[in-house]
Amino acid sequence: MATEPTKIVQTEFTNSNLEVLFSAEEIQNRVKELGAEIARDYAGKKLILVGVLKGSCVFLSDLMRAIDLPLEIDFMAVSSYGKATKSSGAVQILKDLSEDVLNQDIIVVEDIVDTGLTLSYLFENLRVRGANSVKLAALLDKPEPRIKRDLRIDYCGFQVPNKFVVGYGLDAAERWRNLPFIAVVKNPGEI
Ligand code: IMP
Ligand code: MG
Repeated sequence: MATEPTKIVQTEFTNSNLEVLFSAEEIQNRVKELGAEIARDYAGKKLILVGVLKGSCVFLSDLMRAIDLPLEIDFMAVSSYGKATKSSGAVQILKDLSEDVLNQDIIVVEDIVDTGLTLSYLFENLRVRGANSVKLAALLDKPEPRIKRDLRIDYCGFQVPNKFVVGYGLDAAERWRNLPFIAVVKNPGEI
């Protein structure tokens, strides 16, 4: 009896259009290091982590559990790319903070810094509201397309090449946020 050729089943996590850049384990190790660094820097202070929705949700949930200090979390949602894969530069607040940030020490938690336009706007906005200090934790730094060159990433996970990346919260047209790893989309036209 002839045997059927083995069918390779492609799942969401093993999609052939994805090339793994950082594994789940590599990310966990790096996030733990960042958490320990933040815990050292903010010992004795009252820290608020401000997650930028939606992309930072996975990073924030791991990072907060790696910071052994009393802290609070809050969220903002700003529009930057919409569903396109190119930055428009236009920033709009879609969801604002639920608490006052006057005199507070804040770390903005972001998934990736690309042009830096979104974060520059956000930083200015938080300073105007009277935050005592505003620092930035970004899981990924894509330095090549940067327009706001003076934007400082205080706690950075990894640098990435100038390619579109997805997973661990990052999306392409709302897909791939649930990947446990970070991957390059090999052919963005095929999404
Ligand atoms: P910026 O204002 O250009 O720095 O845009 C930052 C935002 O664009 C990030 O918070 C992401 O939501 C999105 N973004 C930039 N590059 C990528 C990418 O490679 N994959 C997924 N989202 C990205
Ligand atoms: Mg984002």
